[in-house]
Amino acid sequence: MMNNLDKTGAIVALDIGTTKILCLVADYNDDGQLRIVGIGDEPCDGLERGVISEIQSTVSSIKRAISKARNVSSHKIESVTTGIAGSHIQCFNGNAEINITNDEVTEEDKIKVVENAQDVQIPNDQEVLHVIPQYYTIDGQIGIREPIAMAGARLGVNVHIITSSTTAKKNLMKCIENSLLDVDHFVLEPVASSYSVLSEEERSLGVCLVDIGGGTTDVAIFTDGTIKHTSVIQIAGQMITNDIKIGLRTSTQAAEEIKVQHGSLMNHPDDGEKMITVPSISDKPDKEVSLTNLSHIIGCRIDEIFEKIQREIENSGHSSKIRAGIVFTGGGARLSGLDEYAEAKFSCPARIGAPANIAGIGNVSGKARYSTAVGLLLYRENKLKDMPHRTSLDNNPLFTFINNFWTKLSAYFHREL
Ligand SMILES: Nc1ncnc2c1ncn2[C@@H]1O[C@H](COP(=O)(O)OP(=O)(O)OP(=O)(O)O)[C@@H](O)[C@H]1O
Ligand SMILES: [Mg+2]
Repeated sequence: MMNNLDKTGAIVALDIGTTKILCLVADYNDDGQLRIVGIGDEPCDGLERGVISEIQSTVSSIKRAISKARNVSSHKIESVTTGIAGSHIQCFNGNAEINITNDEVTEEDKIKVVENAQDVQIPNDQEVLHVIPQYYTIDGQIGIREPIAMAGARLGVNVHIITSSTTAKKNLMKCIENSLLDVDHFVLEPVASSYSVLSEEERSLGVCLVDIGGGTTDVAIFTDGTIKHTSVIQIAGQMITNDIKIGLRTSTQAAEEIKVQHGSLMNHPDDGEKMITVPSISDKPDKEVSLTNLSHIIGCRIDEIFEKIQREIENSGHSSKIRAGIVFTGGGARLSGLDEYAEAKFSCPARIGAPANIAGIGNVSGKARYSTAVGLLLYRENKLKDMPHRTSLDNNPLFTFINNFWTKLSAYFHREL
């Protein structure tokens, strides 16, 4: 578990999706700006609804994506920051209170109270992925964002705990290890995407982030600057393609192409007359279908996804706080007219979120299917910034040895906690 930038000079993001493996390699330019220097984007069919269902084909896709990204970037790739998602993800809330040791809150007090708050009953087959402090309390005063150096006798915290299935994580780890890589962080995919598509203002006003992928639609609700609720809906892009395939009696590939090229939720008055050609799956001739017919098939499934999103928002208990509305991302968000359709259905603002421009190759700007991978890079960059300031001592072999030892020791204790 090494600091990636130490050994290879790069940050590597690996988005293992239901339809693709996306590897991004980034380093810093002379101005200290993050830039993308390697991209590997490979199709993958080893996952079912966001969870590994076949190790071997997933490993082959990972190896191909890594190899492409490595060749372009010429950086060694040893360790990756990877996303995790799927219906096995669960979330819990915890809280704790401790005595403040020396009249004012120290870093140690803060670490201790957050550790104590993790002591909630989670199912045996689940393990903790993220512990996200919501707010602190001092002597009963709530809503404190940063308690360090504040005076008081009792420090409390409320945390949001996100867990994943131990088995699902082990299988993900297995695929990465079989690809001869190490993992520096597992990050919940919508948490990663939030780094690349949400603004600080949206997070603090209250926003619902919806990542429509191939296998799953991930929902994450942010209010007051932090994540409050997460859930996974088992309907996404592949199901829409399947509906088109069944509804128009064509092949999966033709249905996918029709969706991407002609799929829309916008109703134009002349759509009823506009026809598209649907390739036949038998020796019968291809047929013509109206755009209205296609929109209807897509709209039915989107309505079902929207109903489930609405239910999640209501169940989260934060529906009155989602003032910035809904931000859609992921490949499925490229469906034409999705934002306007959502505004009408949810009666709130909606927009399509995609990464802003990042220096380097690939021009990821505006590409919603890159949101998770770019978010993983930004998440990792943020974690590295939290680490102790690096100096020229870092290149000293003795310091490197001590640093390696310390990193391993911290990783050991982190696992044990
Ligand atoms: N223009 C488009 N219109 C509609 N759907 C699209 C368009 N472009 C891509 N998609 C859909 O986006 C989906 C893939 O999105 P994405 O790459 O975000 O998924 P993934 O990360 O592989 O899957 P997951 O996150 O669910 O594991 C596919 O179902 C694809 O059909
Ligand atoms: Mg995805």
